[in-house]
Amino acid sequence: MLRSLKKNVRRVLEKLGILTPYDPPNYRGLIFADLKRRWPHLHGKKVLEIGPKDGKDSARLASLDPESLTMIDIPSDYTLNVTSSTMTVREKLPRWFQDLPCQNKSYREGNILYLPPEELLHLGQFDLIWCTGVLYHNPEPLRFLKRLFLLLNSGGRLILETSLTRHPRLKSHNCVEILWPKSELCLRVGADDQRLIPSLLVPEAEQSLSIQSNVSHLPSRKAVLSWMEMCGFNNIEEISIPIPDQARMALTAIKGDFDGFSYSNRGPSPSPYTIGQSL
Ligand SMILES: C[S@@+](CC[C@H](N)C(=O)[O-])C[C@H]1O[C@@H](n2cnc3c(N)ncnc32)[C@H](O)[C@@H]1O
Repeated sequence: MLRSLKKNVRRVLEKLGILTPYDPPNYRGLIFADLKRRWPHLHGKKVLEIGPKDGKDSARLASLDPESLTMIDIPSDYTLNVTSSTMTVREKLPRWFQDLPCQNKSYREGNILYLPPEELLHLGQFDLIWCTGVLYHNPEPLRFLKRLFLLLNSGGRLILETSLTRHPRLKSHNCVEILWPKSELCLRVGADDQRLIPSLLVPEAEQSLSIQSNVSHLPSRKAVLSWMEMCGFNNIEEISIPIPDQARMALTAIKGDFDGFSYSNRGPSPSPYTIGQSL
């Protein structure tokens, strides 16, 4: 109630020109500030950004003067603009690309989760992977994270930010909410999966998340941390972001030498149930 009142007052003040419109909250700026505290510049470092979309983080990363900046995003022909329910054809090279202050920059279209292994490896090895707002669009999140792990140099850093489940009964567990329109347990309702459909189970109306048709899984916070460990990341540290109700999380982690866990309570060692290295 109070929140929606504040929102409306803000909108009026923005219209009157008293406040500047902004994307509240600017958590990407805060994640970048955290990176800058750890690595004030990126000299000599190869950086991969996944899903740059608007290029705002690309510009931030370029400002730290990396040795190279590689960006990869889903091919434009497959990008569905869920807010307008129309297919948007994005330019092959986004308009902001040429303005990036980086000598050695490249932009590729492709799905990092499903690129053939040889094409994935052709991207190179990186010292930093920046991946915000991407994981929950991907139907195989553990495999996605393992691919990022394999693309990092030893000692390389991942910055990951993701949306989390808002489901009041799921959020405190180590689990994943699968958003599948035909499932009864899904927060989305209705046949039209092109529309933004508010969740029915979110406790307060003003907290309601508009579940987008391109969101496939919403993990709990614990699930994300588990996946990170399962892949073999260490030094996993959460980055504090001002998102109400823990609806998103950000973290940074380092690729160590550890290869990840296998599953076995008996039987052969090493277990056949490993989290594999295959791409
Ligand atoms: C919600 S936007 C996030 C944009 C920006 N990084 C941010 O934090 O706001 C998700 C972006 O990731 C891209 N994306 C999602 N899955 C991807 C994948 N598997 N490979 C490459 N890009 C992906 C989408 O096309 C889109 O541009």
